Order: sequence, then C-alpha cells, then structure tokens
Amino acid sequence: MVKDHHQLLDEAAEFIRTSYAELAKGQVAAEARIAEIAACISRTGSYAHTTEELAFGAKLAWRNSSRCIGRLFWTSLEVFDERVLSREEEIAYALFRYMEFATNQGRIRPAIMIFAPAAESGEIRIWNHQLIRYAGYEKDGIIVGDPASVVFTRQCQQLGWLGNGTAYDILPLVIQVCGRSPRWFEIPASCILEVPLTHPDLTQFAELGLRWYAVPFISDMRLDIGGLQYTAAPFNGWYMETEIGARNLADTDRYNMLPKVAAMMNLDTTRNSSLWKDRALLELNVSVLHSFKKYGVSMVDHHTASEQFLRFEKQECQHGREVSGTWSWLIPPVSPATTNIWHNEYRDLDLATNYRYQPAPYNSISSRSQEQ
Ligand code: ARG
Repeated sequence: MVKDHHQLLDEAAEFIRTSYAELAKGQVAAEARIAEIAACISRTGSYAHTTEELAFGAKLAWRNSSRCIGRLFWTSLEVFDERVLSREEEIAYALFRYMEFATNQGRIRPAIMIFAPAAESGEIRIWNHQLIRYAGYEKDGIIVGDPASVVFTRQCQQLGWLGNGTAYDILPLVIQVCGRSPRWFEIPASCILEVPLTHPDLTQFAELGLRWYAVPFISDMRLDIGGLQYTAAPFNGWYMETEIGARNLADTDRYNMLPKVAAMMNLDTTRNSSLWKDRALLELNVSVLHSFKKYGVSMVDHHTASEQFLRFEKQECQHGREVSGTWSWLIPPVSPATTNIWHNEYRDLDLATNYRYQPAPYNSISSRSQEQ
C-alpha cells in the first residue's frame, strides 16, 4: 500500500518532532529536517530515515508495544541497519550474523535487524513467524511437532524443503523480495541454541524429551516509523519462562504436554479437583527456568518481569508519559494475581510508532489459488 504524500509527510513530521525532542536535537533541527523530508517526498514520493532516526524509531516502537512486559530495557536495543540489501542470499546471511550476535552463546542481547521499507517497487518479507521455530507435520489428523507451524511447514515443503519429521525440526528461513518466488535457506547450526528440559527434583522429567530454542526472534511483524513500513525487521528479546512452560509446551493446541507431565508425576488426572493441570504446569515452568539457567541461557521469571515492568511504568511516569498497555497480554499466564500488573489498569493507546501484524504473504497466495 502506497500512502498519499500528505499522509506520509504528516506521519513523518510527527515522528521527527517527537523523536528530535526526546533526542534533545532541538526544534530548529526538527523543522529543517521536516522541510528536507517534504522536498524529498514531493520529488520521489518517499523519504529515508537517517541511521539515528531508524535506531530511535525501533526503540520507540518497543517502548510503545502495549502487549510487552519486557519494555524496561527498550533503550538497550541493538539496531542493525541492513537497508542496502536486496538479494535473498545477502538477506539470509545477514540474518545468520544477527542470530549469532543476539544468541551470544546464551547471554542474549535484545536486537533488531532492519531491511529496506516497503516501496513502489515492492517489499521484503520473511515468511517465518519466528526465525527459529519448530515444524509441525499433519498426517491423517495427527500432528507431529508444533501445531502452530502446520500451515507454514506445508509451504516450506511445497518449496522443496524436506524435514526430518521429528517433533523438534527447525524450519528453514523463507525470504521473499518484491513478489519474486520465495527462496528458502537452512539455518546453520552455529545460529541455533537449544535447551533440553530437565527438572531440579523430578529425575524422570528428562525422559519426556522436551526442549525449546533459546531465543524468540519475531520475524513477521511490520515496524512502522514515521509513515514508512519496515515489512522485514525481525527482533528478539529473551524468553519469560511462562511463554514456553505455560503456553508453547502446555496449550492443548500446541505441544499439549500437561497430561504427560502429570502422568510422570503420578497425579490423579481423573478429577479436575486434584488440580493436576496446575501442579503439572507449575513443575513444567520450574523445569524451564532450571534448564535455561543450567545452560547459561538468559531468561526472566514472571515475578521478576512484573517488577521490571513496574519500574518501567515509574520511569515513564517520571518522563510525563502514559504507558500504553494491554492488560490481558501483560499479565502472566501463571499466578497472574500475584503480580502488580493484575491490580493495575492500562489503556491501549495504539501509538503510531509500533510493531504491527501484517497479512501472511503465503495465506494470501493460497487463498487466491483456492478462489480460482
Ligand atoms: N511468545 C512467543 C514464543 O513463545 C515469543 C514472543 C516474544 N517473546 C519475548 N520474550 N520477546 O515463542
């Protein structure tokens, strides 16, 4: 979607004014820059951010992400500017370098790699939901692996990728540039860190064979800054244990492991009132925290994350800014009422500089072919 010039200039001006004020660059510099952008837009239909604007915009978009509990660290985001790249291989290799930097052998560094924004000539898209994610294979109604990946896994197979068929196969990167046919790249082992799950007390836990990858790299969201849309801008933080222990491995439509954990613990699964789900859930979360710690991989527990979020709120208040928040996403899925977040209220301000969902490129292709 190409914006009309007025709208683009309005959004650019708003971003420049707020960011230059925060960066203490002064109003004169801001107005001069807006004039320059206006000239550029009327000449070419668009404009480009400076490296400084891009880096601040990416951080600001994190600060504005109403669903994220980890925003205390928004200023520490490492920003890689790869807007010059246009070939699929170059993009894949840049992503591999980024993944190694962020993983840092377990001492995870929050970072983002930003590719060229959407333009008249088209856009860059990473088809993966996350750079590292497990495949899901459906056959006769039975799913091996991550059910959330079934549709994307089928796409990968159609492109010629062959998975091993295990429950934890790492999907390839799929990169598409300007509507050309997408290309897939196997991710080198040096870019992937995984943690096998064990439990500090339950010795049988290891036999469940559970594992998860170290770094969540969200790769399908669009970064919106000053009217420009960065359709390929994968970013990462570190995990909070509940994401893995209370959702990815526990949800009935994901790995659905609570019945197996409960059986291993000899819990009475015939009665809801034995609270077997809650007990299994808790020990699964204990195991996630224990195993990441044991492997030296950064992770935060939900109590500490909630305290950090409170500090973020105080910090924002001191700057005279309201924190945009989505309560139902901010509360952790385990023992939510034990955290301060539960007892607070938030407004989702939907601030302009933000990470947003965008339509999956492969869904639109498959639905179009279904229509015909
Ligand atoms: N919830 C997602 C997952 O379980 C990751 C979302 C981003 N999480 C983060 N800690 N930065 O894979």
